[in-house]
Amino acid sequence: MAQRLSSHDHLFVLTGAGVSAESGLPTFRGVNGIWRGYRVEDVATPKAFAADPALVWQFYSERRRRHETVLPNLAHFALAELERALADRFFLCTQNVDSLHEQAGSKRVVHMHGRIMQSRCSRANCSTAPFDDRSLYQSAEEIPKCRTCGAPIRPHICWFGEVPFHMELILHQLEGATVLLTVGTSGVVEPAASFVWMARRNGAQTIYVGPEEPSNGGYFDEVMLGKAGEVLPDLVEDVIGLGN
Ligand code: OAD
Repeated sequence: MAQRLSSHDHLFVLTGAGVSAESGLPTFRGVNGIWRGYRVEDVATPKAFAADPALVWQFYSERRRRHETVLPNLAHFALAELERALADRFFLCTQNVDSLHEQAGSKRVVHMHGRIMQSRCSRANCSTAPFDDRSLYQSAEEIPKCRTCGAPIRPHICWFGEVPFHMELILHQLEGATVLLTVGTSGVVEPAASFVWMARRNGAQTIYVGPEEPSNGGYFDEVMLGKAGEVLPDLVEDVIGLGN
């Protein structure tokens, strides 16, 4: 990538659960992955929330608890440094709901799957905006009601069957990207899995970083095998060292 990035290039970075793995947050589909212990249909769909909101909140409350104690790793810091160096020629989109990119110093992070420490009204067209919320809810009685419409409050997470957040901005940035760097995602969840195809179609160079080839690995020009915290610091140093 270092060789390819010039002062005219625009870098689009997509991160997945793998970028936070070295911080101690489990990925979704690995050996000890989150989806090994839970069924998506039970905890990560609007139908699941309608059927058993307490179970859904127990799942996300446990995840909130875990997120309280984690710290960014070298991969998050490297990407924050890259943002400072490239300014508006850099765009960071994450599927992660943690705040580790922000904790490492990234200022403009687009969370396409929402944020674990935010909640919102469960009624689709309610005017109440998502709000910061670190509360843990275990029972149906504890789940607060929306002040505007009275519907139960839900986690501000994009569930299966829902459209990810900020898609207009993301697609616009993808169109303008000349390099796509994807880090730590298995390449099975849409629409993020197709970003590599979209970027390629527009002529961008495409690079993947992670310890194993993702499902969509064939679409990348280059697959750099290794942990994000080991590969990214050197990669970023090379790019910045070139005076970008
Ligand atoms: P996955 O769990 O599907 O994939 C994690 C990827 O990270 C795998 O490809 C691993 O090889 C890689 N990985 C593991 N350790 C790594 C490390 N140290 N450095 C770099 N990569 C590493 O997670 P995602 O692809 O992010 O959505 O999952 C996508 C979406 O599916 C999530 O955002 C979530 C989930 O269901 C929602 O909850 C809406």
